[in-house]
Amino acid sequence: MASKKIVVLGTGGTIAGLAPDPGQTGDGQPTYRAGQVGVERLLANIPALKGLPLLAEQVAQVDSKDMGPTVWQTLATRCAHWLSDDDVQGLVITHGTDTLEETAYFLHRVLAPEKPVVLTCAMRPADALAPDGPQNLVDAVAVARSSGAQGVVAVCAGQVHGAMDVAKVHPYRLDAFSSGDAGPIAWVEEGQLRRLRPWPVAADRRAGQLAAAVAQHSPTTWPFVEIVINHAGADGRLVDALVGAGARGLVAAGTGNGTLSQALEAALLRARELGVEVVRSTRCASGQVVPHRGDAIAATPGLSPVKARVALLLDLLARLSGAPAL
Ligand code: SIN
Repeated sequence: MASKKIVVLGTGGTIAGLAPDPGQTGDGQPTYRAGQVGVERLLANIPALKGLPLLAEQVAQVDSKDMGPTVWQTLATRCAHWLSDDDVQGLVITHGTDTLEETAYFLHRVLAPEKPVVLTCAMRPADALAPDGPQNLVDAVAVARSSGAQGVVAVCAGQVHGAMDVAKVHPYRLDAFSSGDAGPIAWVEEGQLRRLRPWPVAADRRAGQLAAAVAQHSPTTWPFVEIVINHAGADGRLVDALVGAGARGLVAAGTGNGTLSQALEAALLRARELGVEVVRSTRCASGQVVPHRGDAIAATPGLSPVKARVALLLDLLARLSGAPAL
């Protein structure tokens, strides 16, 4: 029996980056531009992938700093299309590292896939002296082809991270990602998976509803949701400005256990009085907010501020489509 296809969707990033002058190093100028090489060419340049049943599709070609609703909407639609194809075993998505965790969480919520959806990336551009993208792509394809693999995961530097936990934790190192306290789901070693914990469960009962809301609303009309950080001297003026600018949702990245200065909390409660949805996360790099009875603003346990923002955005989008509040 012919093996099933792996569909590789390209969105850009450093993995598809090129240096205008590959010889240029260390003079303080940006050394490359992300999102230059087509995904088909990236795959064709990797001998280890020759002969595998891969199908490439270019969904976007962006530096992931510019990732947002327009690409997310298209990506969600294309993922759903390919996942519903019985001849497709799984998907690989090439993506920039900078917002990979947000896209991973977005797809986790919207697709809740029973097949593997594997995001991968690189810290060095495609024409670097020793690029990391080709190995990451080979590892990502190995994960997508593994029997039993499911859910949205990210593969980088030989580690498999779940969408809920993955975060970029280093601006330069090749192993730039971590799953924090949870640890990686698996290691990829010479094409073999050494699994440490279960695959993410496709458990979100609201995924279909969220996918419909994502498809239904033009990206320009998605609710304006922002993050405000608590810091020494945070006085809440930013919150007032955001409310004035039309924010529909605010994520407070609190200090420590999601704590907020009195002034910032007061501003957030004022915003809530005006109908703005407000949630709390922590600006700590690891761990999660421990909720307490009587908290004035609900916490989003397990979600970093950027993922809590995606969660709130999806919730507000679903409500625009008539779904009840969570
Ligand atoms: C990007 O996120 O697109 C640029 C940075 C990277 O991929 O490492």
